[in-house]
Amino acid sequence: MNSFQSLILLLGLVAAVRGVAVNTECLGNHEDHFLEDPVPEEIKVILDDGERAFGVNLIKSLFHDFNTTGIHKNIFISPASIYQTLMLAYFGAKDQTESELAKTLGFEGQVERADVIKNYLFERAFQAIRERDPNLGYTLTHANKFYFDRTLPLNECLQLVLQAELEALDFAQPEKARSVINQWVSQKTHDKIPKLLPAGSLDNTRVALVNAAYFKGQWVSKFEAEQTKTNNFFVRRDKITMTEFMEQKGKFNYYTSEELRSHVLEMPYNGDEVSMVVILPPFEDDSLYQTVSRLTPKSLRGVMAEVKSGFYQVDDLTVKLPKFKIEQEFQLEDTLAKLGLETIFGGDSNLSGFLSDKAGEDVADVTLSKAIHKSFIEVNEEGSEAAAATALFEFRSARPLFHTEFIADHPFIFLIYDKPTDTVLFFGMYQDPKK
Ligand SMILES: *[C@@H]1O[C@H](CO)[C@@H](O)[C@H](O)[C@H]1NC(C)=O
Ligand SMILES: *[C@@H]1O[C@H](CO)[C@@H](O)[C@H](O)[C@H]1NC(C)=O
Repeated sequence: MNSFQSLILLLGLVAAVRGVAVNTECLGNHEDHFLEDPVPEEIKVILDDGERAFGVNLIKSLFHDFNTTGIHKNIFISPASIYQTLMLAYFGAKDQTESELAKTLGFEGQVERADVIKNYLFERAFQAIRERDPNLGYTLTHANKFYFDRTLPLNECLQLVLQAELEALDFAQPEKARSVINQWVSQKTHDKIPKLLPAGSLDNTRVALVNAAYFKGQWVSKFEAEQTKTNNFFVRRDKITMTEFMEQKGKFNYYTSEELRSHVLEMPYNGDEVSMVVILPPFEDDSLYQTVSRLTPKSLRGVMAEVKSGFYQVDDLTVKLPKFKIEQEFQLEDTLAKLGLETIFGGDSNLSGFLSDKAGEDVADVTLSKAIHKSFIEVNEEGSEAAAATALFEFRSARPLFHTEFIADHPFIFLIYDKPTDTVLFFGMYQDPKK
């Protein structure tokens, strides 16, 4: 759709690469035609599969942590942003840190670094153009930054290729650096995340890897505010909480996934590219746990393919969905370590690829200690959501069921799915209106 524009943008970059005599070693041995040809399809497939698998593993790992502690917390994250931020780290990673990232991101031994960089640049260009489109119909921000102390000599090739993502700061004045980073995040998230980094967090630091994710969309079919009513949400059989439910009756895509043993509803946002997908298991005390166990890269792929194909349209579906807001912060170091990133945080990391050969002793300073991810979502009548039937609703594997109601009054999973890039932008689990 916007590929013509993105090509121009990328060719501009090629010209820059050619015009200046710089080190192009990060582009592999095809720097002459680096951005002229698109990324080969088979490479895109490997990278997309890797991203989906990373997202599923991340979500399952977070859910598992909460499940083990018995806290039925709501979860809301952007796997796509975390993936991209780690990808950025990969570009400068060496030795064990490099192989751990390649493995966790799902392309180890299958794709060369230069092709990974190329794919990243094409995706960023597509996203940059989309963010600037005034007729988009929704707002979507994915932002990644790698901040370096200004005294560190950067690798010239990466500096050229990742111009938008790399920024020099004076980390000798940590509070000033922190304020610059927080302002950038605040601007990217339309003031929803004004203070990503707490005071003191940049003391003794010379680099920071940051990402911010923001989405705002209006439903194609809005809920009427007058229809919103307080009702029961069944957290568990023995725990019922009151919350506000929005309600509407209309034409929606809806189907029953046997793989996930769940009902699946698509709630499209204006612009016809992004949808919320609500995955509602039957109501049983551990049904969310069961559904998460069934969630695999393959079953998620199945849901995405159904949504893309337009699956089953139901004409008069009554949808009831809680009105909610989730604002969350995660420290992801432990979770990422469990996913195989054991050396990236701490003194054992090797991110020396970000620095030029002249860096000398400074190389040891380029280590990461924290991964902070903050996210925000608000789902209300105007934009963002859906659900059906009574509290105890039965799952039947025979399809199609042609249910007339989709009532999300017990724990469910929701995704914000981007059709053009075939990615899960955000992933959430709604378990308890009070958490
Ligand atoms: C997670 O919770 C479910 C249901 O509450 C329980 O059956 C399961 O054993 C728990 N799993 C872990 C790993 O704690
Ligand atoms: C990082 O990896 C490079 C390349 O293998 C190696 O030369 C360098 O000594 C390593 N640096 C650290 C700090 O381990």
